[in-house]
Amino acid sequence: MPTFDETEAIYVRELGIDDIAPVYHLGEELFTSDLYPYLYRTWDEWEVIGLYNTDPEYCLVAETDGELAGFVLGTIITKASWTYGYILWLGVSPRFQRRGVADKLVDKVVARMIEDGARFMLVDTDPTNTSALKFFHRKGFGNIRQHIFLSMNLSKHEYYGRLIDYEHQKAERAGYRRSRPAIRARKPDSAANEILINPLVSESQITEEELPI
Ligand SMILES: CC(C)(COP(=O)(O)OP(=O)(O)OC[C@H]1O[C@@H](n2cnc3c(N)ncnc32)[C@H](O)[C@@H]1OP(=O)(O)O)[C@@H](O)C(=O)NCCC(=O)NCCS
Repeated sequence: MPTFDETEAIYVRELGIDDIAPVYHLGEELFTSDLYPYLYRTWDEWEVIGLYNTDPEYCLVAETDGELAGFVLGTIITKASWTYGYILWLGVSPRFQRRGVADKLVDKVVARMIEDGARFMLVDTDPTNTSALKFFHRKGFGNIRQHIFLSMNLSKHEYYGRLIDYEHQKAERAGYRRSRPAIRARKPDSAANEILINPLVSESQITEEELPI
């Protein structure tokens, strides 16, 4: 059952099909490259679509006066005898922040996770995200562990840079053979994969007929 709070008029319910685009765009507004580069890189429409598909019971939205005020997307992880609730994404529209929206979303999703056996909660965010850190501390999260992310510019790498050059050449060749732009596929097709396993070694052996179109 959705909850309705008379005093703050924050209505929490499950995310529905029509919420997918608004939630994605709210995330785009919140997880910006300048503030939180890692959150920015990992936030895309598949985060919302994927979790709506696999964990709909832990995908909630908050509405205020019929407007999207915030969302929470989570999942459950079962390992050995432990069941963990994991809050993957939490966002509140800047217009509705500091009004208890995240508080209600988290309470509701944690209650559902407890119902499903969770006895431990996990969440992660950027270390500079002080508002989120303060929020989660206040909710009772602690025991911070640092996790280091490394990155690399692939174009500047000796080997991977050559793979990128190969991809450019392949795209140019394919450009002669098709007039419409390639559609971004979520998973590459298996024929293309087979050829890409070791392109630097096998490139010269690939005939025109074998090139993926
Ligand atoms: C973090 C976030 C979700 C908090 O949402 P919110 O609805 O404003 O939070 P609440 O109103 O429920 O806040 C509850 C408490 O959290 C703390 N808090 C929340 N935002 C804060 C801020 N900007 N600065 C300091 N403390 C803050 C306060 O203790 C607050 O209680 P108070 O208002 O009585 O002082 C929101 O700021 C947000 O969407 N940030 C961008 C996205 C993000 O960082 N998501 C988390 C990682 S995925």
